[in-house]
Amino acid sequence: MTSDAIVDLAALGEDFTRDPYPVYAELRERGPVHRIRMPEGSDAYLVVGYEVGRAALADPRLSKEWRNASTGLGVKQVASGTTMLSSDAPAHTRLRKLVNREFTPRRVERMAPRVQEMTDALLDTMLKGPGRRADLVQALSFPLPITVIGELLGVPSLDQDSFREWSNVSVSAPALADRMAAARSMSEYLTALLAAKRENPGGDLMSALIHTCDEDGDRLSGPELLGMAWLLLVAGHETTVNLISNGVLALLSHPEQLAALRADFDGLIDNAVEEMLRYDGPVETPTYRFTTEPVDIGGTVVPGGGQLVLVAMADANRDPARYPEPSRFDIRRDARGHVAFGHGIHYCLGAPLARLEARIAIRSLLDRCPDLALDIHPAAVTWRSGMLVRGPESLPVRW
Ligand code: HEM
Repeated sequence: MTSDAIVDLAALGEDFTRDPYPVYAELRERGPVHRIRMPEGSDAYLVVGYEVGRAALADPRLSKEWRNASTGLGVKQVASGTTMLSSDAPAHTRLRKLVNREFTPRRVERMAPRVQEMTDALLDTMLKGPGRRADLVQALSFPLPITVIGELLGVPSLDQDSFREWSNVSVSAPALADRMAAARSMSEYLTALLAAKRENPGGDLMSALIHTCDEDGDRLSGPELLGMAWLLLVAGHETTVNLISNGVLALLSHPEQLAALRADFDGLIDNAVEEMLRYDGPVETPTYRFTTEPVDIGGTVVPGGGQLVLVAMADANRDPARYPEPSRFDIRRDARGHVAFGHGIHYCLGAPLARLEARIAIRSLLDRCPDLALDIHPAAVTWRSGMLVRGPESLPVRW
């Protein structure tokens, strides 16, 4: 059972943002479901632990549709258009089917040479910079995923600076008004972009989506097209940036793990990326879920009527009942089964692409910088605010 007392995570301030893991672990000791106040200000039911959390991620009684949210929650959708991530089946099935084939592991593997070229170009620029020092977020973790997803969608000229600002603010700014304003700017920008594509179609994914189509001749409506562009661009870079940064931070603060990886890169990199996802994944709690009926979650009945349920994926991945010594970063451990990409019908569409980018970026970085080191004490790193994404604002490195 959960106690009625609200755990005020907002009151923990910076400490919680910097290191939320002990807070989640303490809650898990007390039970799987807790009433919390989020740093964003709203109240929610937080699910901790692996088994219960994983089951909740795939529970169809927890809806992703905002029309099912209780009006009393004080939360608002910050997004553009209609997306698969905020749809339940069967609407979800239809939207996902239209893009699924673009993101299969085999299709994505074909992008490897291009991802390598982009990585090499970014590292060339970084290594030419002054003083053998750089902010890795600025130099590599941010520009690589956004360039990859921009190219895939057919917007190579994406205005990265404005886009990054709107996207960052809409995903993790503390004030709702700021998040909404940024999402509006982004919608206007994407609407103009889609209009330009309609005029001048290319061989890219966005053009294909505008001009329908699957075998059934299905078409995306205007809001669905906007939603798809928004989701792919935001999901395609807000997360992978943190996989690269969090992964490199974990390696550089665990020299023995770094040495092991350097000694057997081919043998260990796939598993190392899974361990990075498990140990300090880019998404701390996924997007919101709302109860459509009273739901028994691990013995606690969460009322129906659109209550907000958040799953602490970061805690699921550090549950000792699933992973022995979960706070130990160990690139040789069996990290399979982690929920860093979610679970169930909303399991991350871009997982194969994210894994490919991380593998190439981390290998190339370590190859080009044999003596890469942190240029900041790990405890001094500042982290993105909010409970959705987890990653450093900047990551000073030297070589
Ligand atoms: C390391 C990088 C990534 C992580 C950790 C990640 C994580 C996630 C998670 C946890 C979800 C499920 C959210 C939920 O259930 O509420 C999700 C869904 C999604 N992700 Fe990713 N993601 C990453 C990269 C990408 C990339 C590169 C793309 C680009 C195409 C992408 C596209 C999507 C889409 C479209 C969905 C919605 C799927 C659906 O609703 O069926 N993601 N991602």
